[in-house]
Formats: sequence, C-alpha cells, structure tokens
Amino acid sequence: MSFFAVFGNPIKHSKSAEIYALFANEIGISKGYDLKLVSQDNFHYLLYDFFKLGGLGANITSPFKENAYFLCNQLTERAEKSRSVNTIKKLKNGVLLGDNTDGIGFISDLKRLNWIDNDNISDTNKSTVINILLIGAGGASKGIVPVLLTTIEKCHINIVNRTFSKAQVLTSYYQEIGYKNVSCMPLCELYYDTSKYSLIINATTSSMYSAILKIPSFLITPVTKCYDLFYQKQDTSFISWCKKNGSNYCADGLGMLVGQAAHAFLLWHNLFPSIDPVLNHLRSTF
Ligand code: ATR
Repeated sequence: MSFFAVFGNPIKHSKSAEIYALFANEIGISKGYDLKLVSQDNFHYLLYDFFKLGGLGANITSPFKENAYFLCNQLTERAEKSRSVNTIKKLKNGVLLGDNTDGIGFISDLKRLNWIDNDNISDTNKSTVINILLIGAGGASKGIVPVLLTTIEKCHINIVNRTFSKAQVLTSYYQEIGYKNVSCMPLCELYYDTSKYSLIINATTSSMYSAILKIPSFLITPVTKCYDLFYQKQDTSFISWCKKNGSNYCADGLGMLVGQAAHAFLLWHNLFPSIDPVLNHLRSTF
C-alpha cells in the first residue's frame, strides 16, 4: 500500500500524485502516493482505514475539506482558523494532525509572482490600506482568508458572493475570531462600489464551467492584480475577462496548487521541495 494519498471526488484529474512524485524524486524519498475516490457516505471510514493500515499522510481535496476538519484529533492554528483541513499527518503517537496549507500556498505563489513585496502588495503606497476583493464564500475562500489577513500588512478584504448570506456567515466568523479588517457585500453592489482594489481573487468555481462572473469591468485597471484559484491549460474564463478589460497582472491557481503541496510535503517530511521545476513541468505537460 502507499503511505500517502489524496482523498476527493472527483479525483481522476488530480495532479497531487504527480506533484508528490516529483518532490519525492528531488528529495530522494521512495514512498507511493494513491488517488482515493470517496463519497460523503464513506469518506470518514476510508480515511480512518487508510491511517489504520499504515498511512502516514493525506491530502484532502474538494468537497471534503470541511469534513476532514472534524475528523482530526489535533489541528494547527491555520487549520483551526480556516475551519478546514487539506493535509493530515499521522504523528508518532497515532494522533491525526490536521493542517491547512492552502493559504500559505497562495501566499507563496503571490511571492513567486512578485506581487507581494515585504508582506505588502507591490506597486502600492505603503501608508494606505490595501484593498483585496475576494469573490466566493465556499471552501476555497475559507482556506486563504486567515493567512492573507495575517500576512499582508494593513490589508482589508471585502468578500462578495452570489449567495450573500454565505459571505455574511464567513465574515461574521472572521470578525468573531478577531479579524476586524474583513467586510462583505452582495455581488451586485459592486456596481456602486467606489473602492480601488489592488488584488481581485476569484475563489468561485465559475471558471470550472467557463462562466463569466457578473462584476463590473471598471474594477479592472492596468495594475489590478487578478488571481483565479482555478487553473487549466488555456486562460480561465476569469483571466480572459480580466485581460480583456485591461489587467496586465493575471495568474491562475496552478502555482498555488504546487505551493500548497510543497507545504504539505514539508509537514510530512520536514523538508521543503523546489516549487519552480514542478510548476514548469506541469505547465509543459498540460
Ligand atoms: P470550493 O470548495 O471549491 O470553494 P464550493 O464550496 O462549492 O467550492 O463554493 C463554490 C463557490 O463558487 C461559491 O461561492 C459559489 O457561490 P454560491 O455560494 O452562490 O453558490 C461560487 N460560484 C459558483 N459558480 C458561480 C457563478 N457562475 N457565479 C458566481 N459564483 C459562483
């Protein structure tokens, strides 16, 4: 059996096994990695079985990150704050430690892109608050908000979502745990919003369906940084739309995917693998 695995549904197109194999090869580790297709009914049995049979580490992907949060015996602070788990490590005493490396993977990609400079968004006046627009209030948003709020100095995150109540629930939760610089508004109110956003993040699944978000094009300027957490071979629908409306800084989520996997690898093996060669390999073999 493999000692590492990713659990999700769907799972066939997951790149996690390929990324793990490339990291392991660089570091000189020869441990297998499986893809586990699970359902809401059997996820927790299969996860516990995996660890009972000798599993050492698991990645958890959509839609089980919130379920995994409740199945771990111990949580890192960033998993606790995001209330979702994308990485589990079995500790020597048998305890299942849940972590969330999505936020740190996202930040490491912003650094790779040189969009963050000394924990600030580059090209902005450091005395002013940096406005971030986060579109979406699902699992993907949960993983990145706490790390963004703690990493980027003087930032403010405005969360918008098609279903406004979900953005309200998420915002109230972050405010309750002490983050004051987060707010929300209904998606349609963006048409009356006069804020200037330095970074716009698409954390919805809209690009998966090639859907165009209903947001005003005046949000985009040549220096607006636009990041889609989704990725594919060609530009995603969000990236195409941002480019068409004038942004010169657009990126998709492939870098974040490799970044979060590198941080999971660090948790499991106490070694940090190289991100760039893996990212280049994935781009060239899409
Ligand atoms: P994930 O775990 O990948 O975040 P999710 O929890 O199902 O997936 O969340 C999907 C997010 O994408 C939600 O914020 C969803 O909005 P709703 O809460 O209103 O459903 C958003 N979403 C999906 N398709 C969208 C679209 N075409 N336009 C706007 N938002 C969309």
